[in-house]
Amino acid sequence: MIVCHCQCITDHDINAAIDWMRASDPKTIVTPGKVFRSLGKRADCGDCMTLFLDTMRANANLEVPPDLQNLRPQHRKDKTSCKATPRSSNT
Ligand code: FES
Repeated sequence: MIVCHCQCITDHDINAAIDWMRASDPKTIVTPGKVFRSLGKRADCGDCMTLFLDTMRANANLEVPPDLQNLRPQHRKDKTSCKATPRSSNT
């Protein structure tokens, strides 16, 4: 199935690119831009992005490597009060 009509990219091309990237570097984070570049192409109109991403998400090799997951700091549970001093009013 053709996913990107501007660049004639099929779902097979996308899956092959993801599988190749994962095999060559298990820690890589696969992005749509990397898939386009690995195929020697670049996005044109961008109308395919929804289907492009859905196709990528269906590939089991898209998953972020376990040691790179949860790198974002968790929300702080201790809500400290605001340290700003209250404004003095002249009223
Ligand atoms: S349809 Fe993919 S860039 Fe236009």
